[in-house]
Amino acid sequence: MLLPTLRLLPLLLLPLPALSAITVHGQIPIAQTSTTPFDPAVPAVTTLAAYNDTILVPPPVPDPIPATSYTISMPREASAVQGLSIPHVGAAFWGFSIEMSVINQVLGKNSSLIQVPFLNLMQNLVKRAGSVVIRLGGNTQERAALVDEIENYSVIAKEQIESGRTTRTPAVVYSMDMFYLANNISQLTNVKWFMGIPFNDSVSWRLQIAEHGQTILGDNLLGLQAGNEPDFYSGNGVRESTYSPWDYFGEVGTLIETIDANVNIPNKNMLIAPSLGGGGRGWFPEQIWDTGFLTTYVDRLYALTVEHYPNNNCFVQFGVGSLVVPQEVFSTYLRHSSGKNLIAPYLNSTMLAQTVNKPFIMFETNSASCGGFQGISDSYGAALWALDYGLQMAHSNFTNALMHVGGQNVFYNPFTAPPTNQTSFNEWTIGAIYYSALVAAEVFGKTNTSRIIDIAANEDSIFTPAYAIYEEGTFSKMALFNYIDDPSGASDLTVSISVPNAGVPGSVRVKYLEASSVSVKNISWAGQTFGGKYEVDGRLKGDLNIVTIQCDQAANACQIPVRAPGFALVFMRENDAALEVGQATQTFPTTVYTKGRNTATVDPAVLATSNGHSEKDRLNLGSTSHGSMSGAFGREMLLRGAMVLLVGMMGSIIFLTGMLR
Ligand SMILES: *[C@@H]1O[C@H](CO)[C@@H](O)[C@H](O)[C@H]1NC(C)=O
Ligand SMILES: *[C@@H]1O[C@H](CO)[C@@H](O)[C@H](O)[C@H]1NC(C)=O
Ligand SMILES: *[C@@H]1O[C@H](CO)[C@@H](O)[C@H](O)[C@H]1NC(C)=O
Ligand SMILES: *[C@@H]1O[C@H](CO)[C@@H](O)[C@H](O)[C@H]1NC(C)=O
Ligand SMILES: *[C@@H]1O[C@H](CO)[C@@H](O)[C@H](O)[C@H]1NC(C)=O
Ligand SMILES: *[C@@H]1O[C@H](CO)[C@@H](O)[C@H](O)[C@H]1NC(C)=O
Ligand SMILES: *[C@@H]1O[C@H](CO)[C@@H](O)[C@H](O)[C@H]1NC(C)=O
Ligand SMILES: *[C@@H]1O[C@H](CO)[C@@H](O)[C@H](O)[C@H]1NC(C)=O
Ligand SMILES: *[C@@H]1O[C@H](CO)[C@@H](O)[C@H](O)[C@H]1NC(C)=O
Ligand SMILES: *[C@@H]1O[C@H](CO)[C@@H](O)[C@H](O)[C@H]1NC(C)=O
Repeated sequence: MLLPTLRLLPLLLLPLPALSAITVHGQIPIAQTSTTPFDPAVPAVTTLAAYNDTILVPPPVPDPIPATSYTISMPREASAVQGLSIPHVGAAFWGFSIEMSVINQVLGKNSSLIQVPFLNLMQNLVKRAGSVVIRLGGNTQERAALVDEIENYSVIAKEQIESGRTTRTPAVVYSMDMFYLANNISQLTNVKWFMGIPFNDSVSWRLQIAEHGQTILGDNLLGLQAGNEPDFYSGNGVRESTYSPWDYFGEVGTLIETIDANVNIPNKNMLIAPSLGGGGRGWFPEQIWDTGFLTTYVDRLYALTVEHYPNNNCFVQFGVGSLVVPQEVFSTYLRHSSGKNLIAPYLNSTMLAQTVNKPFIMFETNSASCGGFQGISDSYGAALWALDYGLQMAHSNFTNALMHVGGQNVFYNPFTAPPTNQTSFNEWTIGAIYYSALVAAEVFGKTNTSRIIDIAANEDSIFTPAYAIYEEGTFSKMALFNYIDDPSGASDLTVSISVPNAGVPGSVRVKYLEASSVSVKNISWAGQTFGGKYEVDGRLKGDLNIVTIQCDQAANACQIPVRAPGFALVFMRENDAALEVGQATQTFPTTVYTKGRNTATVDPAVLATSNGHSEKDRLNLGSTSHGSMSGAFGREMLLRGAMVLLVGMMGSIIFLTGMLR
């Protein structure tokens, strides 16, 4: 489809041209919160949100509890089932949305220092689902600007925030190497990318992301976002107060004209829109469709998108909005209606997307904007919630959904790179919802034929939802939830699955997503875990534990126990290829790393708007200052155990030895 990519790579190794004309942009690293002297004995880093230890009290057992046993009868043939979703094709259902300002922490400092744990985490999903989609963007994309060089060869840097309304979201500067970084990742594991065209200036469009993204990434770039939450533009003061769906329609039109006139953008039909934030003060998708948006632009689009969070933690983070007490809202996540209500406004649109044959993607979401909630966002409860929410979206014909990833100062990350100056002794930290992404990837597998249906199980109890999955036209899996937290065992569930015409197999195999309570953070999937805080290298540890359950063929029933709380994935087909997938076989050992260190001071308000706190802008919030934070670069590791790093631009060779694991 596009220009060959590899031919261009050698360019990067050339000395930068016209050095005298280059402005070197200072790197303002991502935050740690503590400015006190570092003492390894004092766990200062636990105050960072991503490492917060809060354990909430599980919500009480509902009274009355739903029935503790129920029966499901699913036809063997998909053709006998009404209301199955569209087939889920190509990529893991859950992908990720990575705020531009944390690219260097999460993906790697630059194209030759890619984060190995990140590669392993992606490879686990690729192994199960074929590929993973990742969006690089967020609020920070709107004012992002390409620069010739960034100090110390980093791919991104945050420019100092200026005062004034339109600069509330800091500009991120990025270098050409950002594209090589993404493309290098795609060459190692099957990740496909979305990027965002800066939308702050709809007169003088800055289209370098489109130009270089297409040239360097080729087929690895799937789409380019045209505007991020345009329905919040007027509220955020970046457009006139009268800015309407019609104005957005017009701006997308001028963007398309500008792209058409640009010979450096060969693919003119990969836009992503409208990415509405919706909710209370946003627009409904129908308001965009009513402008004729789809009839006018459909051929220019890769996908239709929305963005939505169920709640926000902006009061605690920034003093705006109203206080939300995590303990009080914990129970709102632990029910099937949570995900269902969230996506109800989009059901007409997912049907519409089918009529125009476009993917429909939840482009940015998580448990709560403004960083999530301590005790909720990283709990087993959140893992159940995100899994159910994801399956509910899949049932409702969303094609994918992207979990938003911020820095160390948010509670909701699916994975977090270590605080930077702990690089030599700490590793990554997994978030509960990464397990949801992993399990969802296994639910759909990689046959490109998986269709799912919410079966309104147990009289549609909000505490015990269940989904049936059909692959290659036949009944292949059941996904069974129990949201109730009841250590007494009295709320444990037994689900009896039958298949008409004496259809149950002699036995089925089951993988459990387990934890002792909805409140805890240590989770296992089929007996394996990524490890605790700072213990994660992106590989599952422990022995794979797949439970075999004998069915009663005479009674045509397979009785599946599901603890309270619990989740079971039941494999109905005896030779399911997905079954034996534990740790992905191709992984990237953390053999070698460098200790990049760096500290600098940055206004936390800068971070606030740039680390996945998009609700801050939703609430039309000015910059606030909470004192200073300090930070430093993330751990940098080389790929595949390579022992030598060619430091191209400096012409020097650093020889690194590392631990073999
Ligand atoms: C770049 O690296 C040098 C040498 O390690 C260090 O002294 C300097 O502070 C770094 N600059 C930035 C902006 O990180
Ligand atoms: C970590 O950062 C702190 C504060 O920036 C600094 O005082 C300390 O020396 C650093 N520790 C290491 C091991 O680099
Ligand atoms: C967790 O985060 C909350 C809210 O920011 C804070 O009050 C609490 O002290 C933190 N707890 C730990 C153990 O860091
Ligand atoms: C599934 O779809 C993806 C993307 O369209 C394709 O690359 C892959 O080969 C397909 N897999 C199968 C088994 O057809
Ligand atoms: C858009 O952002 C760029 C880069 O940050 C900035 O130079 C420019 O002034 C902004 N334009 C408007 C209209 O805000
Ligand atoms: C990564 O990108 C650089 C260009 O910056 C290229 O020279 C290098 O070969 C790539 N490495 C891998 C592992 O693809
Ligand atoms: C969805 O479509 C139905 C029927 O046209 C309409 O009544 C309903 O209001 C629509 N929902 C939304 C959220 O617009
Ligand atoms: C999903 O799409 C299929 C196929 O068009 C349709 O039958 C089904 O009702 C849709 N599901 C929802 C929840 O809209
Ligand atoms: C889970 O973590 C808690 C501490 O948070 C610990 O008490 C418990 O033993 C751990 N459980 C497992 C199975 O590792
Ligand atoms: C990546 O950064 C390291 C220093 O941290 C540098 O030696 C190397 O040349 C950089 N790579 C690129 C492609 O800029």
